[in-house]
Amino acid sequence: MHILHVVGARPNFMKAAPVLRALGKSPAVEQTLVHTGQHYDGNMSDVFFSQLEIPAPDVNLGVGSGSHARQTAEIMSRFEPIVLERRPDVVLVYGDVNSTVAAALVCAKLGVRVGHVEAGLRSFDWSMPEEINRVVTDRLADFLFTPSEDGDMNLEREGIPAKKIYRVGNVMIDSLVRLLPAATRYQKNGFPERYALVTLHRPSNVDDSQTLKGILESLLEINEKLDVVFPVHPRTRQRVSEFGLKVEKLHILEPLPYIEFLALQCRAVVVITDSGGIQEETTYLGVPCLTLRNNTERPVTVSLGTNIVVGNDGEHLSSELSRIVEGKAKKGTIPPLWDGHAGERIADVLQSLQS
Ligand code: UD1
Repeated sequence: MHILHVVGARPNFMKAAPVLRALGKSPAVEQTLVHTGQHYDGNMSDVFFSQLEIPAPDVNLGVGSGSHARQTAEIMSRFEPIVLERRPDVVLVYGDVNSTVAAALVCAKLGVRVGHVEAGLRSFDWSMPEEINRVVTDRLADFLFTPSEDGDMNLEREGIPAKKIYRVGNVMIDSLVRLLPAATRYQKNGFPERYALVTLHRPSNVDDSQTLKGILESLLEINEKLDVVFPVHPRTRQRVSEFGLKVEKLHILEPLPYIEFLALQCRAVVVITDSGGIQEETTYLGVPCLTLRNNTERPVTVSLGTNIVVGNDGEHLSSELSRIVEGKAKKGTIPPLWDGHAGERIADVLQSLQS
């Protein structure tokens, strides 16, 4: 059986690594890895391949940045000949980035079966590009691998037949479990003892100058009481400089490699973020998380985990932060099947197709 994996952007890498590893154990499976090149900076891509021990891609489509239409179209036209040439039995796509939907669309038109890893998540916010990518990819996929029960429920509500849905757990947590010992050993010198770790890159938070200014003002205020450590995504860095905003008082860092970032998460007093994956990682780690969005496609991180969705309301952020600093953070539990073995469960499903 020939499985072709498509990755493109930073959050894909930690999701694909465990599936590649699990399928790699079977001599009957041939694997091809395609990198679209959506993310191309060394610290957004290469360093994840080395730390997660992902083999070098067999093909790099080198698409780079662009508008959504352009990036998606470029991936599609460069990916189609690869599928025609290599004729995989199943193509696996991951998460909700433009590379995911572009590859799924190519395969659906060519009649090649698609497996979507991290299916069924919904924010119900159609203004998010990722929500469009999720819904379209799930509609096109033949195998939908969900991380939690809410994913199955969303898919069934949308009329996806139950026989296509496989609840396998959270592949991102597989990578976390594997590299947590290395993160725990990692020492970073010259760092504050207690700090808030911040990440920010959603267009809804960073593309509007007034919204970004408001968030940065809240962070500067927090920084008076608790040091703010902020690895800055390239999109956010561009906007901060375009809008002429001041962030020098915060501990500004370049985007970090996986192990270093995990080490910072484990030891943080609180994580303040608009990322999807970080809401899940903090839930697993039991670290308080305040999410700077009005919704989340990962509701188990709120119902079971440590996550609180605070929107972009500075007062809500500050009151929740005070509770955490006073030691009154809400306690969470780890959702079912977030156990480090989701990749193996996906491999089992795919291998059972052969028999
Ligand atoms: C993408 C995903 C988002 C994910 C995020 C993680 C989509 C729709 N969005 O958003 O879901 O959470 O990745 O990082 O797919 N840039 C660089 N170097 C790079 C990559 C990007 O400088 O290696 C700059 C480019 O100027 C680019 C901008 O960052 O225009 C945004 O990159 P892009 O891939 O379009 O989307 P992200 O905001 O990273």
